[in-house]
Formats: sequence, C-alpha cells, structure tokens
Amino acid sequence: MTRAISLQDVSKTYTRGRRVVDRLSLDIEPGEFLVLLGPSGCGKSTVLRMIAGLEEITDGQLLLDGEYANDLLPAERDMAMVFQNFALYPNMTSRGNIGFPLRVENPAADPRPRVDATARMLGIEDLLDRFPSQLSGGERQRVAMGRAIARHPSAFLMDEPLSNLDAKLRNHLRAEIAKLTRDLGVTTVYVTHDQSEAMSLGDRVAVLRGGVLQQVDTPRSVYALPRNVFVAAFIGTPRINLLRGVVRAPLDGAMTVSLGKQFLRLPEPLSLDHQLLRVQQGREVIVGLRSEAVRIAKPASARPGEVALTGLVEHVEFQGHEILVHFDTGSRPAVVPDLEAARPVGRPDRRRRREGGHTVLDRIKERAGSLRAGPVAVLDDPPQAGPEPAAPDGRLPGDLVVRTTPDIQLRHGMQVPLLVDLAHLFIFDQHGERISPAPARLPDLEA
Ligand SMILES: Nc1ncnc2c1ncn2[C@@H]1O[C@H](COP(=O)(O)OP(=O)(O)OP(=O)(O)O)[C@@H](O)[C@H]1O
Ligand SMILES: [Mg+2]
Repeated sequence: MTRAISLQDVSKTYTRGRRVVDRLSLDIEPGEFLVLLGPSGCGKSTVLRMIAGLEEITDGQLLLDGEYANDLLPAERDMAMVFQNFALYPNMTSRGNIGFPLRVENPAADPRPRVDATARMLGIEDLLDRFPSQLSGGERQRVAMGRAIARHPSAFLMDEPLSNLDAKLRNHLRAEIAKLTRDLGVTTVYVTHDQSEAMSLGDRVAVLRGGVLQQVDTPRSVYALPRNVFVAAFIGTPRINLLRGVVRAPLDGAMTVSLGKQFLRLPEPLSLDHQLLRVQQGREVIVGLRSEAVRIAKPASARPGEVALTGLVEHVEFQGHEILVHFDTGSRPAVVPDLEAARPVGRPDRRRRREGGHTVLDRIKERAGSLRAGPVAVLDDPPQAGPEPAAPDGRLPGDLVVRTTPDIQLRHGMQVPLLVDLAHLFIFDQHGERISPAPARLPDLEA
C-alpha cells in the first residue's frame, strides 16, 4: 500500500510568529519520489516533520489518500522516517534494530522472516549479528534503512539520510535508495540541500526558499526552465552565470542586451520570447547563461542563433575530463540572496553601517543577506540611461564560467572569442522572475 500525500496551503509558525513554512501546496502521487530541495533553514525538515506528525500544522491541511490527516498521531500515519543522524539502539544488534519496530507493532509475531528478507534486499545479511559500534557509517545507515523498510510502511520520509557519509559512499547509497524505492514503489519524500542528489533521485524536485515553494517539476524542467533566478542558480554545476544587463534598442532598431561594454544582439526577426523583452527596454535585467550555453570559438564560425562576445581569461580550473574557464567579460554579476556565502539569517548586520571601505560586491552581498523573504534577485542601483559604468572598484573577475574540453590551451590574461547560444539565454526581471523564455508559452499568434 502506497499513499498519496497532499499539502494544501500548509503553514508553520513557531513561537515568535515567523512563518518558517508559508502556504505550501504540494500533491505527491502514490509511489512518487519527491525531493524537497533548498538551502539550510528553508523549512525542509519542518515540512517533513509535519507530514510525519512530529510537528503540528499551524494552518492548512494535510491529506493522506485524500483524507484529512492533520490530527492523526504519527503511528496512525504508517510512515517510516530516516534521519541524518540515524540513531540505532547501541545495545541491540542490527537484527534487533531492524526488528524493533516490528516487535512494537505486533509483539506476538516473529520478526525474523521480515528482518531476513529486508537484510537480503539491502545486502547486509552478514551484519545482522553486529552491534552499531562494530559497523561503518555506511553500514549503519543501511541498517537504519532496513529498520524503515522492514515495516512495509506506506511512505518513506527521509531527511538528509546520506549527508554524514563520505562522497563515494553517498553516491553508492544514493543509487541504492533509488533502486530500492523504485522496487518497493513506496511514496518517498526525500529532503536534501544537495542539488545533484535531488536531481539524480527525484521524479520531481520541489525547491523551497525561506519557507516558500519556488517551483516543483521534473529535474529536467527545473534545470531547463527555472521559474526564477533562485532556482536557476540553485540547480546545476557549475552554477549558472548571472550577469547584469540592460535591454536596449539602439538606432538601427536591433534589440540588444548590453553586458557592460559588450552586448548580445538578438537576431531579427525577434523570436516570441525575445519580443517579450520590448517592455523591458532601458531596464536592468539579469542574464542567465549556463556554462554550456557559451563556447570558445571565433565569430566566423558562429552557427545560426549564436552571437559573439570576448572574454579575458582570469582563471582556468582543470577538472580532468573538462576544464572550467573563468572569464572577465566586463559585466557585473547579479547576486542571489540565500545563495551567497551564508551570513546567519536574522542577525543584525553591524557592518552595513560603515560602507566606506567596502567594494560594490560587498554591499550587494550585504543587501542580499538582509532580503531573505524579499525578491529573489538584487540589483544594486537603478537602471542606467547611458552606457553602463565600469565597477568603481575595478573588475569583478571571473563573471562568466565556460565549460570546455581539456585539450584547449588557455592562460591567464588571454583575450578569447566566445559564442553565446541564444537558444539557451535566460532573461530574468529585476525581481528575479524569468521573462525569457516566456513563463508560459504564448498562444500562437498566427493561429
Ligand atoms: N522548534 C523550533 N522552534 C523555533 N524555530 C524553529 C524550530 N525548528 C526549526 N525552526 C526554524 O525554522 C526554520 C526552518 O527549519 P528547518 O529545520 O525546517 O530547516 P531545514 O531546511 O531543514 O534546514 P537544514 O538544511 O539546515 O536542516 C529555521 O529558521 C529554524 O531555525
Ligand atoms: Mg533539516
């Protein structure tokens, strides 16, 4: 039996009135693997604990298989939870630990068959007679999974179950969890702040920021069509390049997006998506380019839909199978609150008072840090009428990261031609909402 979990306008307020989960609506299908993804403190665990019944729902409804479930006791919900700090009973063997919930549920029944079957499924038959202190971290986590599975719950709730493990083991267990939950076909809600984990596990990924749902969609869609700059920046490595631009229509009529001293000339006739930019003329926007949207090549070799830029090599990151080249294109990066080096949230920022010795970037970051529940992007100053001035404190290096093959020889200080694939150009407005590609496809004008 697997179940549908539905959250309807669910909010959570702890003591001092701050909503840590804000009107969250989410329908999770029976058998679905849904990942709750977001930065630390965005409310992921709180959501999971409300589903489990460990935390009261302040407002809104939880439905399990369509039935109102806000007031059900945790035990009545028939769900199994796996935590980051999987607490196994130290005085029980693996067998004892896995069998424990079975014995609680039905003291008369012999837990052995279920425990053995579960251990076989997880490949831990050899570990059944050991105590937790005799197991490695990964083995312990497998036993903890066993304890959750043995009961045949109708849903799994997993809260960063892999984050205490080293990278190799994490990848290994990640694949195991994916296989296991697929085989069992049990609805799973999985919490993580690791986007690559979310992308590789989820049927769908729900991105949370400051207790507010930003987007819920398949991994492919959140990557390809992020609703706003926060989702765009949270998902994908290397992080999407976010540059501050201005939409312009110079005298010859061609629409451009200027990036500092350079610009992207949008091909005529304008695509439907680019036509939408008309209303942004003269305004600052955020240009989003994933590292695969830009390639190192001369303008003469441009394909249709590609436009030229140049970049100054700042730094070359060798990664073995590829290299990441950090270019200075003379543009300024946009800052996304909650993603930049985390300043503790809610603490008054004493530094903000004395801005004198700070760079522009510092100031942008400081503002970003204070805008937790505000817009998803921060543009520091009002739109520029004339050409964009250079940043007063000099360059902000490495504003554009491009991924390329390792055979290419690049050195710091080289000026390199780049081609931007406009099919992969994102434009976000000043509040960080995506305006191009269009949020929803426009009805076909010719139809
Ligand atoms: N019992 C509590 N009382 C008051 N505030 C709480 C309580 N539990 C959590 N919070 C606050 O609610 C917010 C969300 O917490 P939550 O644990 O859900 O975040 P999270 O997304 O799971 O973060 P992390 O990735 O760090 O685990 C945080 O700001 C946290 O400080
Ligand atoms: Mg948490």
